[in-house]
Amino acid sequence: MRVQYAPVSAQVLTNPCWCSGSTTPFGGVWRGSNPRRGAFPLKVSQARVCPVLGRKFVSTPSLVLVLAAGEGTRMRSKLPKVLHPILGRPILGHVINAAWQLEPNKILVVTGSGREQVETWLSENQPAVLKVEQTPRNGTGHAVRIALASQSAKSDSDHVMVLYGDTPLLTGAALRVLWQAHIDSNAAATILTAKVADAFGYGRIIRDKSSAVVGIVEEKDATDEQKANTEINSGIYVFNRKLLEEALSKITTNNAQGEEYLTDVIKILHEAGKSVIGVAVADQSEILGINDRKQLAACTEILRDRINEVWMREGVTIVDPATTWIESDVVIARDVVIEPSTYLQGKTAIGEDAHIGPDVTLIDCTVDEGATITRTYANDAHIGVRAQVGPFSYLRPGSELHKSAKVGAYVEVKNAIIGAGSKVPHLSYVGDATIGEGSNIGAATIFVNYDGVKKHHTVVGAAVRIGSDTMLVAPVNVGDGAYTAAGSVITEDVPAGSMAVGRAKQRNILGWVRMKRAGSTSDIAATKANEKTETEKQ
Ligand code: UD1
Ligand code: CA
Repeated sequence: MRVQYAPVSAQVLTNPCWCSGSTTPFGGVWRGSNPRRGAFPLKVSQARVCPVLGRKFVSTPSLVLVLAAGEGTRMRSKLPKVLHPILGRPILGHVINAAWQLEPNKILVVTGSGREQVETWLSENQPAVLKVEQTPRNGTGHAVRIALASQSAKSDSDHVMVLYGDTPLLTGAALRVLWQAHIDSNAAATILTAKVADAFGYGRIIRDKSSAVVGIVEEKDATDEQKANTEINSGIYVFNRKLLEEALSKITTNNAQGEEYLTDVIKILHEAGKSVIGVAVADQSEILGINDRKQLAACTEILRDRINEVWMREGVTIVDPATTWIESDVVIARDVVIEPSTYLQGKTAIGEDAHIGPDVTLIDCTVDEGATITRTYANDAHIGVRAQVGPFSYLRPGSELHKSAKVGAYVEVKNAIIGAGSKVPHLSYVGDATIGEGSNIGAATIFVNYDGVKKHHTVVGAAVRIGSDTMLVAPVNVGDGAYTAAGSVITEDVPAGSMAVGRAKQRNILGWVRMKRAGSTSDIAATKANEKTETEKQ
């Protein structure tokens, strides 16, 4: 039986960690030797104190809007921008996960471009999230206006948090700081800002002589002097809802892009005498927005480093963090060693003391304690306690290696159980099979599972010795303790304890080389050998 482990990410979703300080922003913290067995992220009650502000919070936002309707033209892609994956999760998924960490009453995503794809992803992966369509799309201000007017946003919320769906590195901790600053200051708008080395493409925060925020100017509308300002708008805000709605009714499309800019409400609020606060983000990488593939790669690298750092802190050795790519939902127990060029993807879980790499890709795999995997590609496989895989092995879906089993060089396994202590050391294909305990499958054995129409199953018992280059033509059973002779084609069941020989009997045609290849190097060598034998006989 395949061992099933509880999906950690689903628990994070339904029971979101309240503050991301001491747990991973992308997965969960586990206790125990195999992370998916009984794995739970930090309990909400344990995480109630924000590590950034060091105090307890009581209020949470009623409504978070996530804008994800834009075209993402600069990505030049058929896939909607917000669905481009970063380490196993779409850009939008990362943003939503950060938002859940505030425990809002509602998250409402504005969809538009690629709406069907985005909404399908949301329904399948974030069923608690509400959706509203923006059509036509006319800018971030328009998106917020449509969202607030929708049935889904109807509530008595005093404040609304707005996020852009293209800022995947945002953490719940930063959002919490922003939220708290807004509540404490009672401002009309609170903006998360950052001073960055390269502000190109971002809206610039405009401050007056007393440093009060008076507006935001977009790159395309900015003067050279404004462009020189490196304090940028992250696109992450909290607004007083009533004041926001009033300001939104006043914005125009009188700008370089002919769109309703959400950023214009800042100037409108300031001119109406309302207070606007800028809160500087502690870690600038949090607010990076993705508009093109270069930024996608840059954000992926930052997230890779963050994830690696968390696992290293949790007791995992990562020999070369620059070439180790661990996706968001992967869980790893302590004292695991990960060698260079390793990719851990999907719902992979690695047990204590396992040694992974170099050059290993594991997708949706479960690896138990003390297993060793070298230069291997495995998808949906279960590698048991102290099992050994590689180098150069390929494990396809349904591969299950029991305790101390071994799969060696140039071996492909699919939908097969390899019993405890059994070995398939070299150059074999094991498809649709059950192998019992303590059996040895000789080099170059093929489980012939496909008759051209259907796949068939092979059963090999315990303590069996399959000779090298055996073809096991399925369906066929090899009984416990049986042997097959090397080079056999096995088409009939082999009773327990017997030796199956399924090959032509050898015959030697004496003098064939002399007759057919006289004078060849073979003939010369053979003649010498025969002469030597004759001399020895005398
Ligand atoms: C925006 C901000 C800019 C800020 C930057 C931060 C505006 C006008 N500009 O610029 O000040 O520095 O983000 O990353 O807000 N969207 C909709 N509907 C629309 C248009 C956009 O939902 O009609 C969504 C997009 O899907 C995206 C987000 O809003 O997730 C931001 O839009 P984008 O076009 O990327 O804005 P930027 O030019 O990056
Ligand atoms: Ca953007």
